[in-house]
Amino acid sequence: EKHPKAIIVIFGATGDLAKRKLFPSIYRLVENNKISQEFAVVGVGRRPWSNDEFRNNVSDSIQTAMKESKELDDFTSHFYYHPFDVTNPTSYLELNNLLNNLDGTYETEGNRVFFLAMAPEFFGTIAQNLKKQGLTATNGWSRIVIEKPFGHDLPSAQKLNQEIREAFNEDQIYRIDHYLGKEMVQNIEVIRFSNALFEPLWNNRYISNIQITSSETLGVEDRGRYYENSGALRDMVQNHMLQMVALLAMEPPIKLNTNEIRSEKVKVLRALRAVSEDEVKDYFIRGQYSNGELDGKQLIAYRDENNVDDDSQTETYVAGKLLIDNFRWAGVPFYIRTGKRMAAKSTKIVVQFKDIPMNLYYKKGETVPPNLLIINIQPDEGITLHLNVKKDGGNSKPVKLDLSNNFFDGINTPEAYEKLLYDCMRGDATNFTHWDEVALSWSFVDPISEAWKKGKAELTTYPSGSMGPKEADELLKDDDNEWLPVN
Ligand code: BG6
Repeated sequence: EKHPKAIIVIFGATGDLAKRKLFPSIYRLVENNKISQEFAVVGVGRRPWSNDEFRNNVSDSIQTAMKESKELDDFTSHFYYHPFDVTNPTSYLELNNLLNNLDGTYETEGNRVFFLAMAPEFFGTIAQNLKKQGLTATNGWSRIVIEKPFGHDLPSAQKLNQEIREAFNEDQIYRIDHYLGKEMVQNIEVIRFSNALFEPLWNNRYISNIQITSSETLGVEDRGRYYENSGALRDMVQNHMLQMVALLAMEPPIKLNTNEIRSEKVKVLRALRAVSEDEVKDYFIRGQYSNGELDGKQLIAYRDENNVDDDSQTETYVAGKLLIDNFRWAGVPFYIRTGKRMAAKSTKIVVQFKDIPMNLYYKKGETVPPNLLIINIQPDEGITLHLNVKKDGGNSKPVKLDLSNNFFDGINTPEAYEKLLYDCMRGDATNFTHWDEVALSWSFVDPISEAWKKGKAELTTYPSGSMGPKEADELLKDDDNEWLPVN
């Protein structure tokens, strides 16, 4: 569909995600004429706001995000607020009346996106009530968008999924992993499958190892309550990191359609070598930030943050070694690491190629700088190739072929949420997580959290502003590898 039409219903419309990401995304979709100019947004929340209060909030959000000073009244006139109690059936009936009226006003043809951007404990209740009270019984389509976290472990995710499935089919469910909306994450497939230079080498004969780093400088901020029950493993590894692994390791899909791509990703997750509780210490390192310094600023330890236990065992950092037991990847470690309060905000993928059988330009025992393909996901977007070339009168020297900054125009690339919302409205679920992916990644992750809960592996610490605990270096050293590039 060219300019999809729908009413977008946002649960949790007074919250942070709506304000920081969703309103600006809707604004850009309308401005860029991607979705129909006949759109309506209904904000749902506990607070007793009026339409005007809501519209002012939307307007603030857009001015902040876009630095836009244009007249916004026309745009915000499409926004409506509906005070709501998620457990009260009457709330749903009233909401339905409002939606039916707006359908008439904006000719949205009964199409509805229900975006759940709020506390996960209500996801199931809301989904079920939407169906029970008739909100999904229109002449158009209904889709439900679920923010993470999708469960807390496999059993809770299964329970949540069952609740949602009572009201929506799998193909109506859009589980968000916002990493899948990032331009350079989507680029992984393109780089792999449209280059004769990489595709033939993309296997265990030519690749030594793959490293994925997603580091943040921010600490836990005001999310202590959530994070204490989550930790980096559930917050980042179960979803974002494993999704990147799947995209890097999948076989070429037969076609570029949703089912084919998802089924290839699922196969990777099925081939992930399970780590038993007793093996966890050999494959995973967990760390927690202590105090430290970054850019001249003193930073406090995780345990001193708000809503964090003085004796917290929650990991703010995870490094791990993953093995994929299939023909393509047997023997190639995928190293991942992610953490808060690290030295830089950066997500990148490093593909290290194997050394050539003999190098004429280096003496015996000297290390030849390896060929690397680096995919820069953020903040810079682009790719860098590390090659060896004769340079400055010398013999072989490492050089970088850099396709970044001026090639990828970061300013005009749509934001992750903008792309995902647009995809959902068009009915394209490719860049959303299928239930099978969710289930498999929890199955992989659960024994790791179990082992940690039982104290089967040590919780290390690392100073805020560093690149993580030294134990993570040793994890690679055991395989004669190291985190690259080393500067
Ligand atoms: C979220 C996590 O899913 O991803 C946050 O809950 C984390 O803790 C964020 O900060 C990182 O996303 P990005 O896009 O900034 O890399």
